[in-house]
Amino acid sequence: MTMKTNTNFHLLATLLVVLLIGTLSFEVCNGAINGTALRLKFYNATCPKAENIVKTIVEDNAGFNPFLGALLLRVHYHDCFVRGCDGSILLDPTSESEQVELQAEPNLSLLGLDVIEDIKTEVEKACPQTVSCADIVALAARDAISAPFGRQMWEVPLGRRDGNVSLASEAIANLPSPSSNFSALLHLFGHKGLNLSDLVALSGAHTVGIAHCSVISTRLFNFTGKGDTDPSIDPTYANFLKTRCSANIKNIVEMDPRSATSFDNSYYKNLILRKGLFESDASLISNTSAAMLVNQFQNASVFFVEFARSMKKMGAMDVLTGGQGEIRKVCYLRN
Ligand code: HEM
Repeated sequence: MTMKTNTNFHLLATLLVVLLIGTLSFEVCNGAINGTALRLKFYNATCPKAENIVKTIVEDNAGFNPFLGALLLRVHYHDCFVRGCDGSILLDPTSESEQVELQAEPNLSLLGLDVIEDIKTEVEKACPQTVSCADIVALAARDAISAPFGRQMWEVPLGRRDGNVSLASEAIANLPSPSSNFSALLHLFGHKGLNLSDLVALSGAHTVGIAHCSVISTRLFNFTGKGDTDPSIDPTYANFLKTRCSANIKNIVEMDPRSATSFDNSYYKNLILRKGLFESDASLISNTSAAMLVNQFQNASVFFVEFARSMKKMGAMDVLTGGQGEIRKVCYLRN
């Protein structure tokens, strides 16, 4: 066997293992995936310009904000994990007593919503009340991550409708904490119909973006309440983070040191070096099967294929379609 055939063989074998793990776990818990009504080119007849409008505005903004991909990817994930991908994350409260998803603690640091509103304004001009905010979020996340690659990094079947319910309590219950351990993460993802391979692939989103020191301060400075540091973190990396965070808890750190604006495989390389930022990231090497996937996803081609597959799955979670929900006129308000 030549070197090249050998490499191809390994790539193929890796993909097969990943596919097998994915398929098996998917069959066990596919309850939350309900996206069969979604389809590509959904707006071709009703709003043929829609996808282009999203892409153009996203690419314009990505030109001066290299973190846009990270911002919009996180918005899409936070939308999908709470009541499915229904744009509920975008709704503003309409009374003093209403506590919407956006007001829940994990959502207070979300950014990029202004770009979604700008897109919606332009799409409404082209085709009033036709394209949902949920679809715009899904497309914008994909296009922002894809911009530097010059190709679409995953497919986004469309036809989501917008939901009317947005509750802060549901955001808190459904979004995993950065201090989650492996079994908590697997359980929470399993509830959404996402399997082990999805958990490891989607966590790879942490190859881009930033985090606030407040999120990691316990891990760095008071892990067991005795002024100590999580022993699972590489000591040099821990010291680096401490220098960034000791002055002010409001400081920020890169999710993926030195490559926080590039969507690549370095997240997995860092995990193996015990440089995962959150306990949830680090937990992925605490389980043998997950660690095996982390190892495989160090290969960027494998990671990209698996990330694309898992994003398509996440984007189809508990979606409203057909006559369900509505198409909002503006994304932050119910009609
Ligand atoms: C596995 C469980 C997960 C946990 C516990 C988690 C937690 C967090 C936390 C605490 C932050 C930092 C927020 C801040 O301090 O501003 C963050 C950032 C981020 N997360 Fe996750 N996350 C998880 C999964 C995901 C998934 C599945 C995606 C997308 C598919 C994602 C995408 C992102 C991105 C892109 C950022 C950076 C955002 C920015 O730069 O503003 N995360 N995540």
